[in-house]
This record gives sequence, structure tokens and C-alpha cells, in this order.
Amino acid sequence: MTAQNSKSEPSDQLPTLTLKPERPQDGPRVDALIERAFGPGRYAKASERVREFAEFAPELSVCAWTTDEKGERLLGCARMWRVRVGGVPATFLGPFAVEQGERSAGFGARMIERACEAAAAAGETHVVLVGDEAYFDRVGFANAPARGIVMPGPVDAHRVLVRALTADAVELKGPIQPA
Ligand SMILES: CC(C)(COP(=O)(O)OP(=O)(O)OC[C@H]1O[C@@H](n2cnc3c(N)ncnc32)[C@H](O)[C@@H]1OP(=O)(O)O)[C@@H](O)C(=O)NCCC(=O)NCCS
Repeated sequence: MTAQNSKSEPSDQLPTLTLKPERPQDGPRVDALIERAFGPGRYAKASERVREFAEFAPELSVCAWTTDEKGERLLGCARMWRVRVGGVPATFLGPFAVEQGERSAGFGARMIERACEAAAAAGETHVVLVGDEAYFDRVGFANAPARGIVMPGPVDAHRVLVRALTADAVELKGPIQPA
């Protein structure tokens, strides 16, 4: 499916995005994008401790592609994982990155929305992540309902965020554990 660009700049200055689930053959390009965005420090991130045991969900993960004179290019990625929080099934989002030269065009927000839509369509009830609330609050994530979530390692508790995908979703409380 193609997402339309929404910023006020002329649309011919923005690439047209195609958002797709991550395929097995996308792995190396996604890994390379993540490496460019985060560098080797990514392995020290609190979220990595979750990804060490979480179950990767490529069908819920989002790759943002464009095709132009340079060929098919990966502009962004949002990976999704299955976990349990206090025994309740949940999804965990990250790494999440957009290529440096393509930022601030709304692509990141669209990828988050798509990942949440895919999770909701699969019957998931929550998406959890570790990130800046100043960015993620605009796409429905908040710290307040995440305060009972216990990460598997050290973390700045203000950066643990959750978005409920259903109106009747329970509040997540307890340790993040394997799905
Ligand atoms: C975070 C990231 C994926 C956002 O992608 P994007 O396509 O630029 O996102 P959007 O276009 O939806 O939003 C861009 C806006 O968010 C702001 N923003 C980006 N990161 C932010 C942060 N950590 N806190 C607050 N605002 C942030 C930008 O300044 C921009 O503001 P503007 O609209 O006033 O220009 C991208 O900046 C990135 O890849 N960063 C490096 C990797 C990273 O930090 N990933 C997130 C880890 S949780």
C-alpha cells in the first residue's frame, strides 16, 4: 500500500513511500540502516535486553521503501517483537529508524501507525517501546500507563512507553518476559 506524503512541501520533493512487512531478504538492508542510525552503541540499549529473548514478528514489522532514479531504497524500518508483560501478550517495537536525509517528513510517524495497525489486526492489544515520550506521544504512546512495566535490565523509567490498541486493554504490569 502506498502512503501519501502530507507535509506542506511540494510533493515532488518528497519520495513516495511504500510500507511493507519485513521479508527475510530485507534483513541485511534493515540491519545496515539500523547500524547507520545507531552505531555500535545500539547493543548497549535497554531494548536490546528485551530483543535477546523476544520473538521477532516480521509480519508486524514495517519497512518503508521508495523507488526513484537511484532504484529501490529502504528509507526506514520499525521492527516488532512478541513478548509477555506480567503474563499478558504484548508487542515490543524497535529498533525504529529513518535514513538521516529523509527525516522530518512524517515517515517515522507513518511507520509507527502501520506497525500498530498490523499488531491490532493480528489481535495484539498493546505496543511497548523504550523512547522519548516527546516524540512518541504524537503517535499515541505514553509513560503513565507503562509505570508498572519492569524491563529486564537498567532503564530510564520515563522512557518506557505503551500504546493500548483496544479500548478495553488491561494496564500492563510486571516483568517483560518471553512470549
Ligand atoms: C526518530 C526517527 C525515527 C523519526 O523519524 P522521522 O521520519 O524524522 O519522524 P517524523 O517525521 O514522524 O517526525 C519528525 C519530528 O520528530 C522530531 N523528533 C525526532 N526525534 C525526536 C525525539 N527523540 N524527541 C522529540 N522529537 C523528536 C523531529 O525533530 C521532527 O520534528 P519536526 O516535525 O518539528 O521537524 C528519526 O529521527 C531517527 O531515525 N532517529 C535516529 C534513530 C532513533 O533515535 N530512533 C528512535 C529510537 S526510540
